Amino acid sequence: MNKLCHVAFIMDGNGRWGKKRGKGRNFGHLKGVETVKKIVGASIKSKIPIITFYVFSSENWERPKNEKNYIFKLINTYFTKEIKNIIKQGIKINILGELNKFSSDIKLTLKKSAKLTKKNKKIVVNLAINYGSKNEIIQALKKTKKNISIKNFERNLYTKNLPNPDILIRTGGYQRLSNFLLWQLAYTELFFLKKLWPDFTPKDLFKIINKYKKINRNYGKI
Ligand code: FPP
Repeated sequence: MNKLCHVAFIMDGNGRWGKKRGKGRNFGHLKGVETVKKIVGASIKSKIPIITFYVFSSENWERPKNEKNYIFKLINTYFTKEIKNIIKQGIKINILGELNKFSSDIKLTLKKSAKLTKKNKKIVVNLAINYGSKNEIIQALKKTKKNISIKNFERNLYTKNLPNPDILIRTGGYQRLSNFLLWQLAYTELFFLKKLWPDFTPKDLFKIINKYKKINRNYGKI
């Protein structure tokens, strides 16, 4: 049975979910947050030590202003309203990505959430936000300077101190990585689901975990 330390999620399909119901893309994002909440709870229940959500990519800035502002407001409201709950549940919030591009209110909320939950031990929830794997790799390479080795390079990634994901789950029907954790996913088990993110349930997660546990992970050995 494989040990499970880290599950990463590409939460695709919110926009389509909302549109399909005639309520617009932003309604899908609103529902998507509910799924995030449920999945964090299910992960705690399953004793998964680390989970990572791809919240906003460096490419998502190209979306319409109204959608971006809606997503930012969702994030800001969620972490303002829920912070007490987050602390109580023992969740440690960790940010992967560049916060500088955001307005000061969201920057402050996220930095505060990370600071207030720094010592929490039950689960680490990484939020990849304004995250792009190619940018991450370039900045890590620049920082590594002349002493290039896998170890030195990994020390300069946003994911320093984190084990690589054991499982990647992408909902929404596409089988691609979309500039997410390209270095860190080298030996990750990949699961692609047709379901849209708002329809993803703890039961779906448990099924994937059970499948994962039985996979022969040989990392190129025999
Ligand atoms: C991808 O679906 C989803 C996003 C780019 C945004 C995800 C963000 C949230 C659910 C908010 C997270 C909030 C917290 C509190 C962590 P899509 O819009 O690409 O869907 P589509 O493929 O149907 O267009």
